[in-house]
Amino acid sequence: MKKILKVLFIILIVVVVLAGGFALFISIRGIPNYGAKDPGIKIVSDSTRIERGQILASMLCADCHKNPETGKLTGGDMDPDHKLPFGNLFSQNITQDKTVGIGDWTDGQIIYLLRTGIKRDGQYAPPWMAKLPNMSDEDVASIISFLHSNDPMVQADATPDRPCEPSFLAKFLALVAFKPFPYPDHVIAQPDTTDKPA
Ligand code: HEC
Repeated sequence: MKKILKVLFIILIVVVVLAGGFALFISIRGIPNYGAKDPGIKIVSDSTRIERGQILASMLCADCHKNPETGKLTGGDMDPDHKLPFGNLFSQNITQDKTVGIGDWTDGQIIYLLRTGIKRDGQYAPPWMAKLPNMSDEDVASIISFLHSNDPMVQADATPDRPCEPSFLAKFLALVAFKPFPYPDHVIAQPDTTDKPA
């Protein structure tokens, strides 16, 4: 009997040490880094793309990135009342400012993030940042054209970024559940809007 207890005790110690080591690994490692890539695409802007990009960005990006007081995409606190268990989350400044905004990101770096969720430093942006893995190439080009446009929403603004402080749960999920999307290996055409069933 005593021997069994001793073995059980040793097993318990091993489990506790392993669980502690795993927890320490997750909290030190943080959100995984998948390595940065730049597909090297250069978008040519025109007024049609800018107009469409304005509509798309207002629907898809402004909710999280727009400061309601200034109307600019300078980012802000995503969860001021701490309702989510994912830590302190801040959307970032995506105006044309070259230091705190994305004025010095290449088109390819922005597209790679929007498609896969991997930022230009290689770090993964968990599901609290939108991804567009299936959007048509033309619509993505329109969003980029809008980001480079003269629209007041995206003019350079030096409001500093606040880096996200993900919780342990967010780091854990980023290791076991959240994963980047693969970068599309084919052209994604605009859907035929006259083909209703499709
Ligand atoms: C659900 C909220 C949400 C939506 C919608 C959203 N974002 Fe974000 N975005 C974030 C958050 C939060 C971050 C910071 C992510 C991180 O660092 O982990 C971010 C980061 C970024 C970054 C990286 C900036 C940097 O300096 O690192 C870019 C670029 C970006 N978003 C562009 C866009 C665009 C373009 C759209 C619309 C197509 C969009 N985002 C939609 C929340 C959002």
